Amino acid sequence: MTVASSRAPDLAAQDGLSALERAKRQPLMLGLFLPIQSGGWTISTAPRGTDWSFDYNARLIVQAEEAGFDLAFGLAQWLGAEGHGGVTHYRKYTIDPLLVTSGVAALTRNIMLISTVHVLYGWHPLHLAKLGATMDHMTGGRWGLNLVTGFRPNEIDMFGLDPIPRDERYVRAAEFTEMLDALWRSEEDISQTGDYWSLKDAYVSPKPVNGRPILVNAGSSEAGLAYAAKYSDLIFITSPGGAEIGAALKTLPAHTAKIKMLAAEQGREIRTVINPHVICRDTEREVEEVCQAILDGEDAPAVDSLVGTMREGDQASWRGHERRQRIIGGNIQIFGTPEQVVEQFAALKDAGCDGLQINFFDFAPDLAYFADNVLPLMKQAGLRN
Ligand SMILES: Cc1cc2nc3c(=O)[nH]c(=O)nc-3n(C[C@H](O)[C@H](O)[C@H](O)COP(=O)(O)O)c2cc1C
Repeated sequence: MTVASSRAPDLAAQDGLSALERAKRQPLMLGLFLPIQSGGWTISTAPRGTDWSFDYNARLIVQAEEAGFDLAFGLAQWLGAEGHGGVTHYRKYTIDPLLVTSGVAALTRNIMLISTVHVLYGWHPLHLAKLGATMDHMTGGRWGLNLVTGFRPNEIDMFGLDPIPRDERYVRAAEFTEMLDALWRSEEDISQTGDYWSLKDAYVSPKPVNGRPILVNAGSSEAGLAYAAKYSDLIFITSPGGAEIGAALKTLPAHTAKIKMLAAEQGREIRTVINPHVICRDTEREVEEVCQAILDGEDAPAVDSLVGTMREGDQASWRGHERRQRIIGGNIQIFGTPEQVVEQFAALKDAGCDGLQINFFDFAPDLAYFADNVLPLMKQAGLRN
């Protein structure tokens, strides 16, 4: 069912397609992984303009939209007063992705805005159904929920909750999602008694623009993938082979095929989106200099802290990443000249990746360079319409 958007007509899609449908027509979707946390993805003192502030991120989203990107996405995390520590106090400051996407709704008109929410940290489905429906209307159907279940022990402690075994987290996430969906679709008051949440004569208005908002998750375990296959439009995948592109390419075809098969078994389609860190310059030598400057500025205690929380957490992503790769960032790393970067993108597409959500070292200039030098080559290579 499609209902009219409450956006002003000049901000609604002109081609009659939803933002998700438009993105799915791209040979390779393009997303920007926002640096809404201090330090972005690079755990180093190497100087750069990357900044966690709302203004900086709002400008990046507008810049990405102008370049033709399909989505912008922010992570959600909860850390103590020192962040990940070190001299940079890595990720000490983080702004909330739901509020950031809400803040840029009226500044944008085409790009999908995806917010991460830890739904098991005290949310009720009725709250998120209402906020999501509102966001969906504020964006004319461009809002997406990256539903994460949370795995970091410090976060669970921070909320005063007991740890939940991973598979059970996804059982709860499934109940939460089904209640969201029921609230988004029902034209009548609904009452439901679930194992974890209940509704009595509950109703949400307005109804989302395209039936329901865009649903995304980032699971890697069997339970996480099964959840994605059943409910998600997009899945943020990680490389089972680690961050080095050659090793990643060996493992990705089987991984992406498995996810698509799981979705097909549910009678559904899902798009796989991987997260490269792109360092692109005119020459290989310049790329090496950027990488070396980052590695020389390693903030070792902060790297230890980040690696430790991923290792301690009961979760299956980001396995096989080497320490030096964590300093630079990205789930996979794509370095090189524009031609070399596009070759690696083509290989990712051949490995079953439907999209990329990219992080950069120095976001604003690196994104501008990418738009000027890499995007035209992607078009020539048939990776972008
Ligand atoms: C691209 C991407 C973005 C993610 N964003 C978040 C996030 O914002 N917050 C969070 O707690 N976890 C985030 N995760 C971590 C995943 O939710 C976590 O790795 C997942 O729980 C692992 O899958 P599993 O639960 O199936 O083991 C992200 C993972 C990926 C790959």
